[in-house]
Amino acid sequence: MTIHIGANPGDIAETVLLPGDPYRAKWAAESFLSDVRCINQVRGMLGFTGTWKGNPVTIHGSGMGMPSLSIYVNELIKDFGAKTLIRIGSCGGMQNKVQVRDVILAMTATSLSTPSRGIFKEINFAPCADYRLLRAAADAAAAKGTPTHVGGIYSSDVFYDERPDLNEQMVRHGILGVEMEAAELYNLAARHDCRALAVLTVSDHLLTGEALPSDQREKSFGDMVEIALEAAFA
Ligand code: ADE
Repeated sequence: MTIHIGANPGDIAETVLLPGDPYRAKWAAESFLSDVRCINQVRGMLGFTGTWKGNPVTIHGSGMGMPSLSIYVNELIKDFGAKTLIRIGSCGGMQNKVQVRDVILAMTATSLSTPSRGIFKEINFAPCADYRLLRAAADAAAAKGTPTHVGGIYSSDVFYDERPDLNEQMVRHGILGVEMEAAELYNLAARHDCRALAVLTVSDHLLTGEALPSDQREKSFGDMVEIALEAAFA
């Protein structure tokens, strides 16, 4: 047991999928895993362990934003031995070629700051995905026929960003989408010799203002879970 994860040693698999929303963790575990059991409920942050095609998998909520994700990922890696961590979440599209419902595989994650800032100080560390996971996810998405983009994303500290010039610079530099967690996931994976990837569904679009209605989010989310699982065990 740790401060934020009420699981016993051995309750958590080496492969962990990380949706932001704890109820998405429940839905994904119940929809895609076998022999599912709930392994964490502390503060309502739900985690589940089961198997996928015989492989042990944990699906655990990360919460919203890098400070929240940092708490869970630190404990999952340091106290429970997680080795492969894949964020499955949503993002806002930032390029015209990116459509709502498309999947983005985050090769890199730009940020203004992350919880690791105190460690890096003047260093502009470049958080990036594990190449093998990235390639396997791209292959899995292509096999499913899911429209997918591979490239850089922006991990923001704020959802309601009042600096439009910042988004303009991101768009100008080819950033595909904005979310709030991947950069710190990649930092922590690098620091602890783990593999990480963010697989994201475009739920809204900053250029067009379009947003995916909630009843259509489940199908896109399911595709993303399958891509993440295929990549983890490729
Ligand atoms: N997650 C989904 N859409 C987002 C957006 N527009 N900004 C930040 N995070 C997001």
